[in-house]
Amino acid sequence: MQDETNRDDGLLRQPVIDSEEALAANAWAQHCDTLPAERIDIEPMKIPQRWERYTPENHAVWGTIFRKRMDQLTRDGSRVFLDGAKAIKLSADQVPRLEVVNAQLEALTGWQSHGVPGYLPPKCFFAWLAQRQFPTTIAVRPAAQMEYLPEPDIIHDVFGHVPLHTDPQFAEFLQTYGKAALVTDDPVHTERLARLFWFTVEFGLIHEDDRLKLYGSGLISSEGEGHHALYSPEVERRPFDLDRVCDTPFEIFHYQPILYVLDSFEQLATAMSTYAERLLALAAGSAAA
Ligand SMILES: [Fe+2]
Repeated sequence: MQDETNRDDGLLRQPVIDSEEALAANAWAQHCDTLPAERIDIEPMKIPQRWERYTPENHAVWGTIFRKRMDQLTRDGSRVFLDGAKAIKLSADQVPRLEVVNAQLEALTGWQSHGVPGYLPPKCFFAWLAQRQFPTTIAVRPAAQMEYLPEPDIIHDVFGHVPLHTDPQFAEFLQTYGKAALVTDDPVHTERLARLFWFTVEFGLIHEDDRLKLYGSGLISSEGEGHHALYSPEVERRPFDLDRVCDTPFEIFHYQPILYVLDSFEQLATAMSTYAERLLALAAGSAAA
């Protein structure tokens, strides 16, 4: 997700990315980070997906990971994720075309996904979400890093995140999250919102069909983490409670010892809506003071 780091790594040098465009988009995002929320224009942060430039290796890496992950996810993945991946026409055959993904999403929830050069500053990221737009990296990890890549690529972003955007409740939650995060300048709430994102969008579990299933993108896109989340006796799986989630710190660089379990995405959307009302009222109050 979001981070303040400027990225200049191997993924940006892939042929699918025009480096001039990427640098300009990144510079615009950094500039927007200094602006008030209402003046942020997300359009110049977008870079086109030049799909025809993907190499045979790119398609092969996507296909290999897609097949391996689906082996586990047909059993352990949320139905909402599996139905969503089908609805946006993801397949092992080739790296997805965002225009195809977007044509399907448009009809279902109005969400869209567009290419970005890498991490966006937090305020920019929230501005995208508030407009039902999802920034996605478009590079594919090299074959040599098939198992693990420290930053997101199209496999994490489109395979891991975007299928859930087909679900009306999740779609509503994510937009409300973006709007609330965009107006919040209290560091306490900024940290609480980061935890909420982490324990839901990135590492969430859900009850479906009398058992636990994976839906967070960090679990969807990682075999080891997904298996650990469901089957390790070392994981404490707590029922979702928004305030408890927001009070739980997390660490990034190891498997998660605590996870939160939703009963439904409606539960998440409702809890977020209540929290957003609180945050919007606080923001209105501090603007009036
Ligand atoms: Fe993510």
